[in-house]
Amino acid sequence: MIKKNIPLIDLKAQNKIIGSELLNKIESVMSSTQFIMGPEVKAFETNFAQYLDVKHAISCGNGTDALIIALEALGIGEGDEVITTPYTFFATGESIAYVGATPVFVDVEVDSFNIDVTKIEAAITPKTKAIMPVHLFGNACEMDAIMAIAQRYGIYVIEDACQAIGGEYKGVKLGTIGHVACFSFFPTKNLGAAGDGGMIVTNDERIATVCKALKAHGSGENGQKASNLLNGVTEDIVVDQNEDNTVYNPLKYYNYLIGHNSRLDEIQAAILGIKLKYLDEWNALRIEHAEFYTKLLNPYEQALQFVLPKSAPHIKHVYHMYILSAEHKDALIQHLKESGVSTGIYYPVPLHLQKAFMKLGYKKGDFPVAEYLSERTFAIPMYAELTPTQQMEICEIISQFKL
Ligand SMILES: Cc1ncc(COP(=O)(O)O)c(C=O)c1O
Repeated sequence: MIKKNIPLIDLKAQNKIIGSELLNKIESVMSSTQFIMGPEVKAFETNFAQYLDVKHAISCGNGTDALIIALEALGIGEGDEVITTPYTFFATGESIAYVGATPVFVDVEVDSFNIDVTKIEAAITPKTKAIMPVHLFGNACEMDAIMAIAQRYGIYVIEDACQAIGGEYKGVKLGTIGHVACFSFFPTKNLGAAGDGGMIVTNDERIATVCKALKAHGSGENGQKASNLLNGVTEDIVVDQNEDNTVYNPLKYYNYLIGHNSRLDEIQAAILGIKLKYLDEWNALRIEHAEFYTKLLNPYEQALQFVLPKSAPHIKHVYHMYILSAEHKDALIQHLKESGVSTGIYYPVPLHLQKAFMKLGYKKGDFPVAEYLSERTFAIPMYAELTPTQQMEICEIISQFKL
């Protein structure tokens, strides 16, 4: 067979379709010379909130910052515990540790790859302040059960929706069910920037106010509002009358909280604004491709000892990744590589076994399902522009794998 050249994610294919639309927009931002906190960011935040049907969308520098700022806005820090999954990208646990809190891991389900809700309650202690479920690979966590537990114990839910933009749980968009949620616009995400970007969303006015302040040095009107809220102070807010951020604005130099410099820039916001219009179409294509993969690979599941991804009927899985869980992972990856098909390993080391989390005291065997998956899972090519021919070629190659 002729060697193929099929990437895991093909951003060039996307560029061929919308590249000139993006370049025109970038050019117009360049000529405006307004690069930070201008009209593109404002418009994207409004459109993003509308897309999700959520009250507040606060853009920031990346998904990791979104998680950190959301945790800080909830007052989570030293001495607190946050329950999350060990089978995720490092930033999930990192954000919790970064604010000084302790990540408390709970094992995942073997079918959905997401946090096992039946095991959450056993991990709750008086120090637990929040649950951070991750909608991994685009598949929703069991949010009804998670919200019921959170309500019972009076704790927050921070959805890590970084991989699940456009996904749904019982007809409701992911990121709108918890108290606050975070998104990443890393270029390979379903909605990706040409660089880094992130978003915090919430229906809670108070959380939104503090997030807005924390993302920009706790300064100006937002900083004062947030500081007043946090300290129970009622005093007149000095209103920022300045719409044009390029003009000298003295209020910017009055700071009320220790925050961050974590802003989505105008060029990224402009790019994301264009891509948001295509998101539903792209997600629909991903779902179509996933269904086609499943149809083509189903006959080989048992013989070749791999398991295909599953999602429940009440969930709209948006297939950020299409993940196989294979007994002979390394050999299958090698076989695909030799035939010119790229794969990606997600995630080879569960968080409880990461060196950076050694001081938490976990050991191998603590989370058997996460460890089992980490040894077996990998992604095969998935992107909206993937063609049926490419998919048939990939599946043909997999079908020729010899145990
Ligand atoms: C589940 C999850 N959480 C958090 C992040 C962090 O996002 P970013 O890379 O934009 O900081 C990512 C992105 O890779 C992610 O996949």
